[in-house]
Amino acid sequence: MNTCTASAPGKIILFGEHAVVYGQPALAAPVHDLRATAHVAPGSPGSGLTIEAPDLDQRHALAGAAAHALALTAQLVLERLGEGEPDAHITVQSDIPVAGGLGSGAAVSAALARALAAYLGRPLENAELSALVYETEKVHHGTPSGIDNTVVCYGMPVYFVRGHEPEVFHPGKPFDLLIGDTGIPSPTHETVGAVREAWQREPSMYEATFTEIGAVVEVARSAIECGQTATLGPLMAENQALLRRLRVSSPELEQLIEAALAAGAGGAKLSGGGGGGNMIALVEQETVAQVRKALYRAGARRVIHTLVR
Ligand code: PMV
Repeated sequence: MNTCTASAPGKIILFGEHAVVYGQPALAAPVHDLRATAHVAPGSPGSGLTIEAPDLDQRHALAGAAAHALALTAQLVLERLGEGEPDAHITVQSDIPVAGGLGSGAAVSAALARALAAYLGRPLENAELSALVYETEKVHHGTPSGIDNTVVCYGMPVYFVRGHEPEVFHPGKPFDLLIGDTGIPSPTHETVGAVREAWQREPSMYEATFTEIGAVVEVARSAIECGQTATLGPLMAENQALLRRLRVSSPELEQLIEAALAAGAGGAKLSGGGGGGNMIALVEQETVAQVRKALYRAGARRVIHTLVR
């Protein structure tokens, strides 16, 4: 059998994180500069399927490791295709920071599933791939909305409402973002769990906030589709204020947001689960260098430039 390689991008949530878990819409975009790649090669006869992820310090044989997301992904692909375990070796490599809200888990699973299915001569459609990755996301997240697997598998900006067909959408004009990493790992299931507990204690306040976030998302989608990038800054500020109300921001995120705005970013907000992880800042060609510098000075561990297109 031939070898097969496939990849999937990282992702950012542009607007609507957390509220999306409660049925509100959210917008997300792929980050093509960060990728997970999986390579499948034939193994020796009788070797079974082995999976190695040196960046994640993981090595598994398929048998006995189904509780792990990577082995689970492979198993789901085999079940879906009605195939037995092949004698093959999968190597997974990723430059997407783990537990930073950049979709690392979904991208790794998507790359692995895509490569294995192609290796078996049965490539998966985006929707099928996304449904399969969603199953593995449950291992990482507990109760994921499904937005991560969707954007990572489609590789396009998406408008997402839980339980509905995702809508791919096209920015009227591409725009530049800097992603600033606080370097603080913050597993999404923890912030999602904290919001859930707080929502149970104060349902009316939380539901009103989710609805307000949903309204910001709708306006943001039209602004992006119409190429009205300048209006995105105030919408990011509005979304961030609502995320603060959900108590998912953190001093480190606030520090990066403040630094980006002071250095001339058009807008800034946390992106993803919050608590740590990443923030995004809207920049122009003229401001990108100074905002990047300000983010590093304010403590960012890594700053990634991405074009939403
Ligand atoms: O994977 P993250 O950290 O980008 O979080 C995804 C966004 C949340 O809305 C916080 C959770 C979800 O499942 O949608």
